[in-house]
Amino acid sequence: MISLFPLFLISLSAWGSSVNAQAKNYPGAAGWPTSAAWQELGQATGGRLSKCPATECTSSQGAYVLAAKTAQDVSAGMKFATANKVRVSVKGTGHDFMSSQNRNGGSGSLLIYTRTMKGYQIVPEWVATGAPNGTAPQAAVGIAGGTAFEEVYPFVERERLMIVHGATASVGAAGGWIQGGGHGPLSNQYGMGCDNALEFEIVVPSGAILIANDYQNQDLFFALRGGGGGTFGIVTRLITRAYPLPTMNGIQISVRGRGYLDAMAYLFAMTPNMTDFGLSGYPTMSGSSYSSRLRAPGKTAQEISEFFNPIAERMRQLGVTVSLDQVVDRGTTSKRELFKEAAESEKLKARQLGGLMTSRLLARDALNEGNIPAIRKMLSSVTGGLSSVLPYPNAGGRVAQNRDLDTGLNPAWRDAVMHMIVMGIGGSPVSAMDPLSANHGAYLNEASPSERDWKTTFFGGGEHYARLLEVKKKYDPTNTLWCTPCVGGDLLVERSGRLYDA
Ligand SMILES: *[C@@H]1O[C@H](CO)[C@@H](O)[C@H](O)[C@H]1NC(C)=O
Ligand SMILES: *[C@@H]1O[C@H](CO)[C@@H](O)[C@H](O)[C@H]1NC(C)=O
Repeated sequence: MISLFPLFLISLSAWGSSVNAQAKNYPGAAGWPTSAAWQELGQATGGRLSKCPATECTSSQGAYVLAAKTAQDVSAGMKFATANKVRVSVKGTGHDFMSSQNRNGGSGSLLIYTRTMKGYQIVPEWVATGAPNGTAPQAAVGIAGGTAFEEVYPFVERERLMIVHGATASVGAAGGWIQGGGHGPLSNQYGMGCDNALEFEIVVPSGAILIANDYQNQDLFFALRGGGGGTFGIVTRLITRAYPLPTMNGIQISVRGRGYLDAMAYLFAMTPNMTDFGLSGYPTMSGSSYSSRLRAPGKTAQEISEFFNPIAERMRQLGVTVSLDQVVDRGTTSKRELFKEAAESEKLKARQLGGLMTSRLLARDALNEGNIPAIRKMLSSVTGGLSSVLPYPNAGGRVAQNRDLDTGLNPAWRDAVMHMIVMGIGGSPVSAMDPLSANHGAYLNEASPSERDWKTTFFGGGEHYARLLEVKKKYDPTNTLWCTPCVGGDLLVERSGRLYDA
């Protein structure tokens, strides 16, 4: 029952502001565009506008849906919506764990559907638009706004190249994943998805189609690299860095038995060692067993065993059974396998869509042998029973080394070595994890939507949040795009599916 109180309070305060003006126009209201005006928009966008319900509206409560094919389509839609005070919501591919919060819903909105913008291209010698003469070219992949990883990766792999990608094949490469930061099975050696973004083509609420990179619209480039999807505009094309395809040897680990908590506390304490070495992946802890297949790009199977054997030995001394299997890449390991390896963890999360998911970024400083009693205490309060724990060692390494990149990413990522998710009922995962967290930070895309101090938890708070908010206000002064928890989410309030001035 206690967990109902915060919700109750939120709705009270929303009712308290009932004198405030409606921030948007809604179907049936005086300012709502006429059918003729909508028809005109339909003609301007090649007949790709439909009245909801239509297939692309899916579960959302949009009034109209625009299945955009080009940046010009998106531009026409945005311009129309901003001029008519119509709310825009954005829907791409993949999933959104905060979908209960309507990050891509939005009743009475113009839903801009980006799944229809597909395409990719390898650019072996890419130079940013606006870069000074003499800038060295680099290998890059250009990806249209609605393309999923499963569409682009086979193509990139055939060229023996690799891009930093998410754990789920159906996730969009240019959407909320990368705009919210984007961790993946390769991030501790190659950086976050957003660290690898070289350029965005984006349609902002005025309808302008802009290029954001190191040389133009740098403020927008900063914000799009970690400041969250659906907030600043709609990305219609991403240019991301390409790397030579590394070997993907790894190790399969399972742990269970007496001494489980002691052994897991030790393993957590070894996370900085693992991420420094370059091992990462998608472990799951259910009941009292741990299972994972971790990969270390570029390392030999022998090097991986030599690194991990002493850790396993120490865990066995603490009483558990540890089974280890070498995972050898014979030159054939593909992204498809990596997606499969993350599937169990993704399945557990999918059951929690919009539900009980809590996350914290655990700090490098907190995970070490000297702190084992505190780690064990945290683990004993969040494991067991019906809960599942997903301890991803996907930060540290390159993510930490990229600290000085000017990105909108939650700075807590730079101090973290683990993105830890707890799913299930009971206990208080936040108070258990906070003492070990990096500044109460959590990963925007996989977390509880009802974080109290969301500006700090998701966006670093203070000056970092202020800078993101400034970009939001500059490019979206009328809040054509609105979501929560998102930058500027408190500028409006949502009541019975309608938006009011805060
Ligand atoms: C860069 O090169 C182009 C073409 O050679 C030239 O027109 C331009 O003036 C150069 N710009 C600078 C800043 O040197
Ligand atoms: C883990 O890293 C710490 C700090 O660098 C080091 O003292 C320790 O020996 C390492 N342990 C293992 C098992 O690699």
